[in-house]
Formats: sequence, C-alpha cells, structure tokens
Amino acid sequence: MDLQGRNLIAPLDLSVAEMEWLFDLAGRIIARPEDYADVCKGKLLATVFYEASTRTRLSFEAAMLRLGGQVIGFSEPQSSSVIKGESISDTIRTIASYADIAVMRHPKEGAALVAARQSGIPLINAGDGGHFHPTQTLTDLLTIRLEKGSFDGITIGVCGDLKFGRTAHSLVCAFSRYSGVRFIMISPDELRIPEYVRDEISHLEFEEVRDLTDALPQLDVLYMTRVQKERFFNEEDYIRLKDSYILNAAKLKNAKPDLMILHPLPRVNEIAADVDDDPRAFYFRQMRNGMYIRMALLMALLGKGV
Ligand code: NCD
Repeated sequence: MDLQGRNLIAPLDLSVAEMEWLFDLAGRIIARPEDYADVCKGKLLATVFYEASTRTRLSFEAAMLRLGGQVIGFSEPQSSSVIKGESISDTIRTIASYADIAVMRHPKEGAALVAARQSGIPLINAGDGGHFHPTQTLTDLLTIRLEKGSFDGITIGVCGDLKFGRTAHSLVCAFSRYSGVRFIMISPDELRIPEYVRDEISHLEFEEVRDLTDALPQLDVLYMTRVQKERFFNEEDYIRLKDSYILNAAKLKNAKPDLMILHPLPRVNEIAADVDDDPRAFYFRQMRNGMYIRMALLMALLGKGV
C-alpha cells in the first residue's frame, strides 16, 4: 500500500482498502511498539493548531516521538505570526520549508484543503471548523474493529450535536462505504445532521429520532458527542440544547450487554461519571487507540518502514 506523500483532508480521501491496511498496521504497532521506535528517525512533524486541542495534538506529538521522530509547532496562534495578519497559505509554506509532514486544526471549514494546496508536504486535517475530523474517525473505526472484528451488521447510534459535530460528520461519511451498517441519528431537531452528510448515506438504512432511551436497546455502538458551544451563534440556544442528552448508569439498564459506548472527548455533561466503570464504556481505550492509528498514519504518509 503506497500512501507516501498523500494528504488526509476528508474521510473519503482514503479507500476502504487503505483504511483497513492502516488498521492492520496499528494492530501490529499495538502488539509490538518497540519494533517501531526508530522508523521515523530524522523526520519532523509540525503541529499547526489554531483551535483548542488536548488529545488530537498530544496524540500526534506522542505518535511522532514514539516513532523516533521530532516535533515542532504552535498550539496558540497568538504566539505565531498569525497575530500579525499572516495568511494560512503563507504560514503553511513556511512550515513546509522546515518540516516533513504537518497536522493542522483551524476553526474555518475548508482551511485544511486550502493549506494542502500550498504545503508541498503531506498535510493532515485535525479538524476544520464544523466540517470534518478524519483522524478521529480512523480512531473510532479502529476501536470498533478491534472489539467487534468487523463492521458488518452493526447498528450505530450517533447522538448529540450532529449539526456542528465534525467527528459525527466524518464518522458517518466514512461508513458510507460499508453496506452492512445501520444508523440511528439521535438529536434535537435544531441539531440534525446536515444534508451533505445525510446524502452520503442515502443508500444505507438510517433513521433520525429525538429520543435516546427508545433507541438505546437497538444499538451495538453508541457514539455520544458534545454540543459544540463554540459553533453556536447565540448563547441562549446553546444553554437550551447543551444538556439534551445525558447518558448515565441507570439508562444503560436497557442497553445490549455488548454495547460499545464511544465519545471523541472532551465530554461535558453528556456522559455521567457513573458510566466510566461500565465495561461498555470504551471512550478511554478509544483515546489511546488515537495515538496508535496516528503512528500508523504518520508512517504511511512518510513512506516509512511499510
Ligand atoms: C473533537 C473535536 O475537536 O472535534 N475532539 C477531539 O478531537 N477528540 C470533539 C469535540 O471537540 O467535541
């Protein structure tokens, strides 16, 4: 599989075969991480973050360091020339002249695509506004695959802010190529999945509902999401909608014994702490898998040891 030199901007940029190949590589890294300790020696990753991040940025940095590479970057645009009015294109050109690969997060939809046109080095979209977040999706799919073996015949509930949630958009689009998947979209009316995402899965079985409790017993995977405060135009709407769904231990009584509860994190109130010790809570394992799949992705895009 040759992914060397490619960008990852949108969830459909990778074919099913390419994704499966990355999952297999991540599995091998999980089994024997020591075999990969030097594969990216001499390579430099730039992390270019214009928006807050804990897991995505740190897991990319940890991934590169664990592969023997090094990292430069900024996590606060205020500390870079962005504050002087520099454009994304000029910033990315600069970074590309120092680093071998870059990861970018930006509040504007399409920013990563614009940057990729100028970069000349592989560019990975770590979230562009309320649009896509393809490496979170790789993390999510790897987590389901490790547990369930395949995606065939599974019912996935995606719950919360399906309008602004880029992780939900990317996940749904990525699954559009797996015909054995059924979706239940659970959201308030105001936060329903946008049409461009719904169109991608028009050939799959899916329904849109408001109630989580009714849908819960049918689910094999429940993907909870945070209401995206930063994308709201007014605070009143956010306050009204922010606690639309709160999953707790009592509600899980009606769920399947082998349900997987996923969440890209950070959570606010949508999963109560009393769920954390339930064996069906996978969100912390999911978070760790994010580092392994990013190790596989960095290796592949750099053409290293594969
Ligand atoms: C997500 C994001 O940034 O879109 N976080 C993450 O990368 N794990 C989810 C969110 O912020 O709600």
